Amino acid sequence: MNPTVLITGAARRVGAAIARFLADEGWEVVLHYNHSRDEAMQLSGELRQLYPERKFPLVQCDLSNTDAVLAIFNRLPDGVEKLDALINNASTFNSGGIQETSPEFLRKEMAVNFEAPFFLIQGFVNTFGMGVIVNMLDTKVVKNEGTHAAYLLAKKNLAALTRMAAMEFAPNVRVNGVAPGPVLPPPRKGNDYLRAVIEKTPLKRQVDVEDIAASVSFLLNNPSVTGQVVFCDSGSHLL
Ligand SMILES: NC(=O)c1ccc[n+]([C@@H]2O[C@H](COP(=O)([O-])OP(=O)(O)OC[C@H]3O[C@@H](n4cnc5c(N)ncnc54)[C@H](OP(=O)(O)O)[C@@H]3O)[C@@H](O)[C@H]2O)c1
Repeated sequence: MNPTVLITGAARRVGAAIARFLADEGWEVVLHYNHSRDEAMQLSGELRQLYPERKFPLVQCDLSNTDAVLAIFNRLPDGVEKLDALINNASTFNSGGIQETSPEFLRKEMAVNFEAPFFLIQGFVNTFGMGVIVNMLDTKVVKNEGTHAAYLLAKKNLAALTRMAAMEFAPNVRVNGVAPGPVLPPPRKGNDYLRAVIEKTPLKRQVDVEDIAASVSFLLNNPSVTGQVVFCDSGSHLL
């Protein structure tokens, strides 16, 4: 029986790269999506072609809807009895300083980037009792840049939750994080934006999605590591 992992926001970009990497390692991957149904179906088909003995099923959920998040483990796809791992990857990334942040905007950014992972971690532990969780963070969790205040505060909370949950849920559940640096330009930003960010990193290197996926894999597969955050960021956190 293949170990099974649920990846949130798995249809595109970093999530899809993690899905491909873990599928190649032998995982059954449950692909969560919100709007990207076509991309999720395409990825599932691609993976089924490569690994026909597995299903790569889909689950749709709007993670800004707390009731839907709380119910997600009760409506896993047919044939998925148990999850061994959870990757909290889905995210929103909207700009705005503290001054520009309305209550509604703060709640929205917190809902997807912090509340959803919080209740998915809680639900995973209550439903399956053991396994491993990886939270996708951001190299900027150690900084105080205010360009994306609500997003960054949510990710800082998620970094703190990673360590707190690692304590509370040991020895049965390990909880770790990966903090990426510049991997892909954010939606609506081009390669020029990314190139400028990459130039400022110590390694002057765009972080490869494969390197992010390999960091996730390391944390999933190393039974001695919990409460750890791997900064896969071309050294950005050092600045
Ligand atoms: N890209 C980078 O350079 C970078 C840098 C630092 C940190 N990170 C972190 O790494 C992770 C992956 O990055 P990414 O750039 O690949 O992320 P992304 O493209 O911005 O978002 C990933 C997925 O999140 C899902 N999502 C957004 N709102 C949702 C909602 N309300 N309900 C359910 N799903 C929702 C979307 O799914 P649908 O498309 O299905 O709607 C989207 O495809 C994120 O946690 C991000 O913060 C990335």
